[in-house]
Amino acid sequence: MAIRFPKRYTVTAALPYANGPLHIGHLAGAYISGDIFARFLRLMKRDVVYVCGSDEHGAAITLRARKEGTTPQEIIDKYHEQFKDTFQRIGISFDIYHRTSSPLHHETSGNFFHTLYDKGKFIEQEAMQYFDKEANQFLADRYIKGTCPKCGYTEAYGDQCEKCGSSLSPTDLINPVSVLSGATPELRSTRHWYLPLEKHSEWLSAWLETGMINGKQVHDPKEWKNHVLGQCRSWIETGLQPRAMTRDLDWGVDVPQDIEGSEGKKLYVWLDAPIGYISATKQWAEDNKKDWKKYWQDKETALVHFIGKDNIVFHCLIFPALLQAHGGFIMPDNVPANAFMNLEGNKISTSRNWAVWVHEYLDEFPGQEDVLRYVLIRNMPEQRDSEFTWKNFQELNNNELVGNFANFVNRTFVLVHKFYKGKVPKFEEEQDFVGARGPMEDSFADAELMDLYDVLFEMREMIYLYDFRGALNQLMRISSMGNQLLQFNEPWKVNETDPHRVKAVMNCCIQIVVALSVACRPFMPFTSDRMRTMLNLPPVLEQGELLKVLDRLAEGDWLVKPGHLLGEPAHLFSRISDEVIQTQIDKLHQSKKSSEMTVAVSDKSSETIEFSDFEKVELCSGKVLEAIKVEKADKLLKLTIDIGSEVRTIISGIAMHFDPATLVGREVVIVKNLAPRKLRGIESQGMLLTAETEDGKLGLIAPPVGWPVGCPIK
Ligand code: 2FM
Ligand code: ZN
Repeated sequence: MAIRFPKRYTVTAALPYANGPLHIGHLAGAYISGDIFARFLRLMKRDVVYVCGSDEHGAAITLRARKEGTTPQEIIDKYHEQFKDTFQRIGISFDIYHRTSSPLHHETSGNFFHTLYDKGKFIEQEAMQYFDKEANQFLADRYIKGTCPKCGYTEAYGDQCEKCGSSLSPTDLINPVSVLSGATPELRSTRHWYLPLEKHSEWLSAWLETGMINGKQVHDPKEWKNHVLGQCRSWIETGLQPRAMTRDLDWGVDVPQDIEGSEGKKLYVWLDAPIGYISATKQWAEDNKKDWKKYWQDKETALVHFIGKDNIVFHCLIFPALLQAHGGFIMPDNVPANAFMNLEGNKISTSRNWAVWVHEYLDEFPGQEDVLRYVLIRNMPEQRDSEFTWKNFQELNNNELVGNFANFVNRTFVLVHKFYKGKVPKFEEEQDFVGARGPMEDSFADAELMDLYDVLFEMREMIYLYDFRGALNQLMRISSMGNQLLQFNEPWKVNETDPHRVKAVMNCCIQIVVALSVACRPFMPFTSDRMRTMLNLPPVLEQGELLKVLDRLAEGDWLVKPGHLLGEPAHLFSRISDEVIQTQIDKLHQSKKSSEMTVAVSDKSSETIEFSDFEKVELCSGKVLEAIKVEKADKLLKLTIDIGSEVRTIISGIAMHFDPATLVGREVVIVKNLAPRKLRGIESQGMLLTAETEDGKLGLIAPPVGWPVGCPIK
């Protein structure tokens, strides 16, 4: 496939909402992909800017602030700093990490809106929207929840159902409820500015399908991912609708004050957020004496958005329509969105605490940043959802990073130190290698270097086509080649008898290590730095080094000359034990459990029941006559209980807490009028009351001592 060479690249990664810590799903979704691409382009001496920043507006922030009982400003300040730090620690090489609360962004997005308004690109419309009387405000998007009309999920948001992925508007929801007060909202009239997306449908469709705009080819649709195009197609086929670009909110970018009716109105967060890419570029340009317009308005620039699949519609339809309506901007060259990464069989969820938090990983695995990067790239959800498991993390580290990559580098260093005191050996190319291993072509080294070139070239092609998993495979092929070279020639055995061969082999191995130290950089930048120190070579500054390596290999030139003195070997990766992995698995389940307990407690304490509901429950005293374990059920006991008027069988989940023998004769309280239900084939006719402490201790609730059986308890 032809690869075009734009003059420069603007690479963006989705601005994360500053409303909660970053997890591995974030990294695997947008940030590592963008980072691989940007680092690679720099290594190829391309002009590139990689921008990102915190998305600090929208309901995500204000709802979080409400939940934590604080202000939106405090929330964004806290998470903006945390994000910046976490991204830097995991090696995401943004050229700028900006924020949408900055005055520059408010100005840029306000002006953008004004231009669209002046050009008559909006329609102003009165519409009925939900209003919460208790909270005294209109309820936009995420402030409203209800049942999804498409799939019946009861927790769907006003703009999207997270279960079936349908895009919704608040009035689509069945039984809408205000997230703020829990009240049923009422419809009231309000005025807003809408982008008539349906008017853009035709050119958007042609642009996506053919890559043509105004008769010009601007991108190659064959380079776009199928799942991205598929999602766009389905949106367009369903029929694009006018979309409100403003909201009645008190947090966000103001609609420019000189526009009539702007009072109390803010820009829709999905209008302001992608403009955040432009503001970030402006700030970077100002800081680095560059011209931001070249990166957004010059046709020779390729704009590439790295995002997760939930953001496809905004980056492939809405933002392009806005850019086009505004005029003067280039269109995205590609939007290589990733699907989602699941964790140990379940969807990653911040609210259920089912996540691996990046800042915690960094604290718990110091110096092992690249292990996480490697595992996330190996499992990157490039075409479909993928899975992270701690077991797989351990396997990939132990088998591939330790067993293949580090093993090759380490063996090479140890042997060069042992045989040549750390100096890259010189060998005579004319020499005939005839030894125990059989003849060796005198063009042997050339052939090795050509193979190396071919694999690197393939890796390069794959990165240009956003196939990062494939590219990482190529990288690992290189160290496999190195291992094979060592394995086949066994220099440790034949150095005495075949020193010429060993010199040639070890020289080649060092050349391969040098190539690896450059080629691994987009994927594992920390490892690249460590390897350069070991090699006693300057760090890779991402200033065209990969291009240089490719050029040299194509010319048949060495990457490092004989006589160069290496540094000391160091271990690049170490084995990860079963215990370490088990600790992480336990932690994951533990934190999910505690979040469920918190939710359960807070849910319960906020719920009240009527006295008439309580009156329905019949409690009475009883005495245990018999207690036996239920077969094949660790937790269940079968209790026979005398309640005066009759003897009941009750199946109770208390087997882990009591020895059955100690229960006989105990006085208990039971719920008498619970509908009977079958457990393990036995009918349970009621329920035993117990009390449980926070750390899981269980006690039986008893009537006053010596109380007769069958007394009602009220
Ligand atoms: O989904 C999100 O996390 C959004 N904050 C992404 C915004 S991307 C861009 F448009 F800024
Ligand atoms: Zn749904």
